[in-house]
Amino acid sequence: MPNAQLTVDPAFRVGPADRQLFGSFVEHMGRCVYGGVYEPGHPSADPRGLRRDVLDLTREMGVSVVRYPGGNFVSGYRWEDGVGPVGDRPRRLDLAWKTIETNAFGLDEFMTWAAEAGVEPMMAVNLGTRGVAEACDLLEYANHPGGTQLSDLRRKHGAEQPYGVRLWCLGNEMDGPWQVGHKTADEYGRLAAETARAMKMIDPSISLIASGSSNRQMSTYASWEATVLEHTYEHVDYISAHTYYDPSDGDRASILASAVDMDAFITEVTATADHVGAKLRQKRKLKISFDEWNVWYQSRLQADLDRRGWVEAPALIEDDFTAVDAVVVGDLLITLLRHADRVGVACQAQLANVIAPIRTRTGGPAWRQSIFHPFALTARYARGTVLRTEPVGPTYETSRYGDVPVLDTVAVHDEETGGLAVFAVNRGPDDVPLEMDLRGLPGLHAQAHTTVAAGADPAATNTETDPERVTPRELTTPTLDGGRCTVALPATSWNLLRFAPQS
Ligand code: AHR
Repeated sequence: MPNAQLTVDPAFRVGPADRQLFGSFVEHMGRCVYGGVYEPGHPSADPRGLRRDVLDLTREMGVSVVRYPGGNFVSGYRWEDGVGPVGDRPRRLDLAWKTIETNAFGLDEFMTWAAEAGVEPMMAVNLGTRGVAEACDLLEYANHPGGTQLSDLRRKHGAEQPYGVRLWCLGNEMDGPWQVGHKTADEYGRLAAETARAMKMIDPSISLIASGSSNRQMSTYASWEATVLEHTYEHVDYISAHTYYDPSDGDRASILASAVDMDAFITEVTATADHVGAKLRQKRKLKISFDEWNVWYQSRLQADLDRRGWVEAPALIEDDFTAVDAVVVGDLLITLLRHADRVGVACQAQLANVIAPIRTRTGGPAWRQSIFHPFALTARYARGTVLRTEPVGPTYETSRYGDVPVLDTVAVHDEETGGLAVFAVNRGPDDVPLEMDLRGLPGLHAQAHTTVAAGADPAATNTETDPERVTPRELTTPTLDGGRCTVALPATSWNLLRFAPQS
């Protein structure tokens, strides 16, 4: 088999590698909040109950934006329950996850956590059981400087300065029949448009996200986006997309090709948004907020919910991610970067415990799951301008997506430092030698080749007792000769190749 080939050229510019692509998600679900980011009495907790070990890992991961408080949870949530003296806060039924919500953690605690974590907060308003008024109240509480009942209430609760939350989701997965307050596209579109209009009267500087399809398999997919955007286009800045890839059936070839589906999803939602924009004679192009994406062993959830009654913070969907899952996550990040011109925000779901890169034991340690590593390395090194790459190489057959390329790649060129990062996934079961042609960026030398590979044990996971089983490995650095080099991409691996200017 001939070697695979890849040319990197600064002429093939996609757009800036926006930091907002490295977002995450904290939902009141399972132990993401309680026992995850927040656990008063934990040995590492600060006086406000924020787990410092989780904060440290969040910073290490390079998370930029965090969406809150849901998710399905937000569609039944009353934000006022979560502010003010903790002892006065009501206990409520959370219908989304059949859970008792104590409301010990709410908006003000989240904003404190976000500031400590160094992340930008991204809020969702409830458009399931609530509407325009409550969304406006929440925005006034959060962003209005003072002199009104709600802004002064925030100040009374200790936040003198407005939070200045910039990103707001208009509801969550409103196309899903599972959603509390589920709506048709017309019902949701009208409500979202009116909520958006009113919210922008309060704070014109905010960016709004209309709720798109919950996944590409929804029967209303694409027509949902078209109808919702006919109502909302002129009032919003983004349309959301969500997707999860389920490895439960053991079809490794297909799960490794999940990025093929995400790629098509982005292309289709962009086309739908542009179609509506053209129809409405709008010059402004909308972007996608891919505000939920990940690998998720989803088929395990229902049994979990059916088995039990109403409890506080149950362990929910605490998937143990394998080395193969890490390769898939790395590839999904490559896909998001490749569409950096049209994907403006992306949030991996979720941050802690719930299908999460960070796992904790209540009262015990926190550790990095396998999927932590490609995220952290991509967030760290994807700085500058995304360059489109078209690898030439073999393909392989999958039952879900047909014939797909074995290799997936993207490059990011940092014009300030002159450095180049090439991200490459080998989805196949064999090592692939990749000939790289970097003559378009003269004067570079190879700095490092880091890999997260399935190796001898593709099902390996990181656990509390063995938290370092799946970690990045450094491979021999290739030698650039006349702007060309050949690197061996290990079987089923995610790779980061770094190049720097000759000093
Ligand atoms: O992230 C878990 C859930 O998945 C979210 O609450 C919901 O929006 C999606 O269906």
